[in-house]
Amino acid sequence: MNREEAAALLSRYDQLQLLTYFDELNETEQNSLLAQIESIDWSLLDLLKNRTTTEESRGVLEPLGALEVDEIERRRDEFEAIGAEAIRSGKVGAVLLAGGQGTRLGYDGPKGTFNVGVTRDLYIFECLINNLMDVVNRVGAWVPLYIMTSDKNHEETTSFLKDHSYFGYHADFIHFFKQEMAPSVGYDGKLLLEEKGKLSLSPNGNGGWFSSLMKAGYLEVLKESGVEWLTVFAVDNVLQRINDLAFVGGVIASGCECGGKVVRKAAPDERVGVLCLEDGRPSIVEYYEMTDDMIHLRDEKGNLLYNFGVILNYMFRLDRLEEIQNTSLQIHVVEKKIPYVDENGTIVKPETPNGYKFEALVLDMVHLMNSCCAYEVVREREFAPIKNLHGIDSVDSARELLVKNGVTL
Ligand code: UTP
Repeated sequence: MNREEAAALLSRYDQLQLLTYFDELNETEQNSLLAQIESIDWSLLDLLKNRTTTEESRGVLEPLGALEVDEIERRRDEFEAIGAEAIRSGKVGAVLLAGGQGTRLGYDGPKGTFNVGVTRDLYIFECLINNLMDVVNRVGAWVPLYIMTSDKNHEETTSFLKDHSYFGYHADFIHFFKQEMAPSVGYDGKLLLEEKGKLSLSPNGNGGWFSSLMKAGYLEVLKESGVEWLTVFAVDNVLQRINDLAFVGGVIASGCECGGKVVRKAAPDERVGVLCLEDGRPSIVEYYEMTDDMIHLRDEKGNLLYNFGVILNYMFRLDRLEEIQNTSLQIHVVEKKIPYVDENGTIVKPETPNGYKFEALVLDMVHLMNSCCAYEVVREREFAPIKNLHGIDSVDSARELLVKNGVTL
């Protein structure tokens, strides 16, 4: 594509601002920008027009019961035996979603490299690997760990983990793969530049993990090595148990195609996505999609019917993931803080959200499964997400919870 062709294409979509600094670029930069313009997925911009309709069209929602803590405790030995057998025989892998940019935290580096320690170094990646090591040590077998990064943080993530000797994890069992990128737009729908010759691209959401894993060639590796299940979890929950035996065994014993860890809601109107049924299939309904009636519905024992919020820790059957690989996931339009080049050519790093990114979400994969085991965990023991520096779901709250769980900071 040459400049004229790019200009014609961009004017069709009213996006000529992308060429504002074209003449200031050297030839390599110009060619790079033209190539980026050529590969823009224009269908994403249509999502801005249809925004309200796509986000609001839900099917018929019904509550979905959970495997609750008291039942899990009663059946712990049974579940742990099943989980141990599955992990020992290499049937369960783990996927760490670490491709996000963690814009709310405002930390300049991959979130996993953030140090939550106070009197000593304790990095987020270290917390997660320590948690997984509990299982490795108990069972006496390494769990293959796949770490998703993005163009924005790949080098830093891989070298950080290497420099820290993978915090004691066996390097042969750690594999990295990169997720894909999508363009970002300002509130006016105009595509943004992050440099004069570079489109603003951001990771395309955590829902792209399986297709990116496949693109990296790992599906065959997984199948050949006998992996039948993959757990998938977020980088920011420092307290979560990963591939713990009871969860793995509980999901397998349930006969479901996937499982999701859930916590009991702290209040009916807590802002969490709730695992339920939608048109008879498992699904996650966001708090703002529920009617007031639904939010307060209770069973005869007085328990909320929509009572269990997801914490981004799932387990999927690999053969089912393969079957749904060609089904496209909904793309969500998400408000974010997006650095951009302004009309004076200055790079601006906004303090508040200034535009939209396009993201597929792992939670939408649950709806493509025929069944899901909602597996209850105790919030104070397994849920300490780090989204912000202070306040709710923050470094402060996570530190407090880590200490309560016996971790020295
Ligand atoms: P969040 O939804 O918290 O997004 O990610 P984020 O980008 O990390 O943070 P904010 O919203 O900008 O503050 C939940 C999990 O999904 C991963 C994150 O790394 C985190 O583990 N994720 C998110 C990806 O792997 N890729 C993405 O494109 C987005």
